[in-house]
Amino acid sequence: MYKIFVTRKIDETGLNLLKQKYSIVFNNSYLSPSKQDLIKGVKGVDAILCTLSEKIDSDIMDEAGNNLKVISTYSTGYEHVDIEEASRRGIYVTNTGNILAEATADLTFALILAVGRRIVEGHKYVVANKWKSGWMPNLFVGKNIFNSTLGILGLGNIGFAVARRAKAFKMKVIYNNRHRLNTKVEKKLGVKFVDKVKLFQNSDFLSIHVNLQKENYHLVSMDELKMMKKTAFLINTSRGSVIDEKSLTIALDKNWISGAGLDVFETEPIKKNNPLLNKNNVIILPHIGSASKETRAKMSQVAGLNIINILEGKRPLYLVNKQLLRSISKKKSSQRFGDLL
Ligand code: DGY
Repeated sequence: MYKIFVTRKIDETGLNLLKQKYSIVFNNSYLSPSKQDLIKGVKGVDAILCTLSEKIDSDIMDEAGNNLKVISTYSTGYEHVDIEEASRRGIYVTNTGNILAEATADLTFALILAVGRRIVEGHKYVVANKWKSGWMPNLFVGKNIFNSTLGILGLGNIGFAVARRAKAFKMKVIYNNRHRLNTKVEKKLGVKFVDKVKLFQNSDFLSIHVNLQKENYHLVSMDELKMMKKTAFLINTSRGSVIDEKSLTIALDKNWISGAGLDVFETEPIKKNNPLLNKNNVIILPHIGSASKETRAKMSQVAGLNIINILEGKRPLYLVNKQLLRSISKKKSSQRFGDLL
C-alpha cells in the first residue's frame, strides 16, 4: 500500500480521498512541522502533501528515499519546492493551479476598497469610541474606486479575475505582463498593455500578481515607488519578496504613495518590529488570499487527486514539472478541472 505524508492539518476533502486508498502519515497540527518532524514524516513515503511553509529540498528528498514519486503542494505557488532537483530525480511536483484565482481576486478587491475608502481606520475609530459628532465633512475622506485606474502587474489567472471585477467598478485597467495578450482578449477583458514605467506612473491602485521567480525578487523597489502617483496605493496578494519592504517603508514615510494593502510579506509571520505595522495607511493581512471555505476545500481535493492520479499512472490535474509528462501514460485524470468548479 502506498504511503503518504501530509505535513499539516488542512481541509479534509482531499485527505478523505487519500485515506480510502493509501496509508496516511499525518501531522495533526495546523502548524508546520519542525525540520526534524518533517524528516521523520517523509521517511519511505511515496508522496508528500505539503504546504508553502515547508521547504522541500534535496535533503528532504534524500530523507524520503527512492519511493518518493510525487510532491503535491496545497498551494499554487511552488517556490518552496526545489523543482529542478525533483525533476532530475523524476519526482512529479503538482500544485493547485488556478483553483484559488477567484478567492484571491476577491481579497485583492477587498484590499483595494479597504485602503481606498479607509475602512479599517474608520472601524478602529468607531470601536475606540472616538466618533463623537455624527456626520463629519472631513472624516476618513478617501479615494474613489469607481472610474480610477487599476494597474495590474502580472496578468495571469488572478490578474484576469481582478480585471473582471474592476470592470464592474468602471475602472480603467492597464497591465504589464511578460507576454502581451492578443488584442481580441485585451478588448474582451477591457485592458490595455503598457510598459512598466507607464504602469507605475499612471495607476491609482497598483496590484501585483506575479509569481516569485528569481527575476521578480524586489521587482518593486525604490525606482518603481518613486514613479508612482502620490495619491496611489500599492496592493500585494502575490508574494512578499516581490516588493522591497525597506523601500516601501521609505516611500510611505516620504509620502511618495498614499498607502498599501498587503497580504504577503518578505518574512512570514511578519516580524514584530516591521515598521509597516505602525502605519495607519497600510492594511496588513496574514496571507489569507485563498482562505475561503470553498476554495480551501477545492485546493484539498486537487492536492489529493494530483497524488491519486500520479500513483495510478494518470495525468495529474496540475503538474509543475511538465517535462515529466511524457513518462505518464495517456490515461486522462480521474477528474477534470472543470468538474471541480
Ligand atoms: C498559494 O497557494 O500560493 C497561496 O499563496 C496560498 O494559498
